[in-house]
Amino acid sequence: MTAIGIAMTGSGAAVPPIAFDNHQLSHIVETSDEWIATRTGIRARHIAKGDRAVTDLAAGAARHALQMAELAPEKVDLIVLATSTPDDLFGSASVVQAAIGAKQAVAFDLTAACSGFLFAVVTAAQFIRTGTYQNAVVIGADVLSRWVDWDDRRTCVLFGDGAGAVVLQADDRDRLLGYELRSDGSQNDCLNLPFGGTEKSLTDGVAVSQGTYRPVVMNGQEVYKFAVKKVPEVIEKALFRANLTPEAIDWLLLHQANQRILDAVAKRLRIDGEKVVSNLSKYGNTSAASIPIALDEWVRSGQIQPGQIVASSGFGAGLTWGAAIFEWGR
Ligand code: ACO
Repeated sequence: MTAIGIAMTGSGAAVPPIAFDNHQLSHIVETSDEWIATRTGIRARHIAKGDRAVTDLAAGAARHALQMAELAPEKVDLIVLATSTPDDLFGSASVVQAAIGAKQAVAFDLTAACSGFLFAVVTAAQFIRTGTYQNAVVIGADVLSRWVDWDDRRTCVLFGDGAGAVVLQADDRDRLLGYELRSDGSQNDCLNLPFGGTEKSLTDGVAVSQGTYRPVVMNGQEVYKFAVKKVPEVIEKALFRANLTPEAIDWLLLHQANQRILDAVAKRLRIDGEKVVSNLSKYGNTSAASIPIALDEWVRSGQIQPGQIVASSGFGAGLTWGAAIFEWGR
């Protein structure tokens, strides 16, 4: 089969209108703007409401990305929605498909927490490279505000809601230059959002577990150590696959978890701070959405230009982590 390349031709983002800053948060839990900002760089986050929030945000981001790519929704073959917080446990991607009018597309959800967007980009890329599909929309969308314990200051200060999307299209030249994906379930307990049921007996010897998910649990220090060790390693691996060195990177686009993680990774890779994409002060950690939201902001402000090399890395629950090196635009 002929190898077909991939171009990223559009980006889009959508965040809920309601912003919630650190000062407001300090009325809910014992914290302060100073503590949150110095430990994380976060100043505010946006909070979604409603039962269809993930679908609405994801559809909004996808529409913006399609507009930038000048691609009609009917031409979309594939939609991959990376989310850990679907509106419907059976999946939200098909509802997004209907909302944007992508009648010909197949749509499915993919879950890999904060690495989900990168995992979804690589997944969609396989379908394009094999020639199966021509046009894909990859969306990262999460509404973790539903699942954090708003009484737990160790976690609730970190997260925000939003969605971001990109359009991937088949092209003669491959702009996905290299990637590497990893996971390690033995460290799952560092960060999870576990199902917690209570046993209900149906009949003699037959019982089911019924309930819902418990709020996000995180060992912040372990996650921090994991991120600053594994993210530079996986970026180096992806660069190796792309036959590039860190000097070739125009932009370092990391999952927007914490400014200290961004700075530590940039330092280890010897990448100048001016090349580090960061907008987490406004949005907090939006999980699978953070990379495409930041990408979209940098593209629309003219900072990321067509032809520039972006080194991107996602990391988070699972544990999962990964990196992709790509050239923006066509
Ligand atoms: N406000 C005020 N004080 C707080 C807060 C808060 N919001 N949260 C914790 N504290 C207190 C603790 O109770 C503790 O007090 P103590 O010493 O009296 O017990 C003290 O601050 C220090 O707590 P630590 O947990 O040790 O704080 P740390 O310096 O590790 O910072 C943080 C915490 C910011 C969470 C850090 O560990 C971190 O950034 N880790 C990475 C987490 C991350 O990025 N997760 C997301 C990635 S994966 C994904 O995106 C799903």
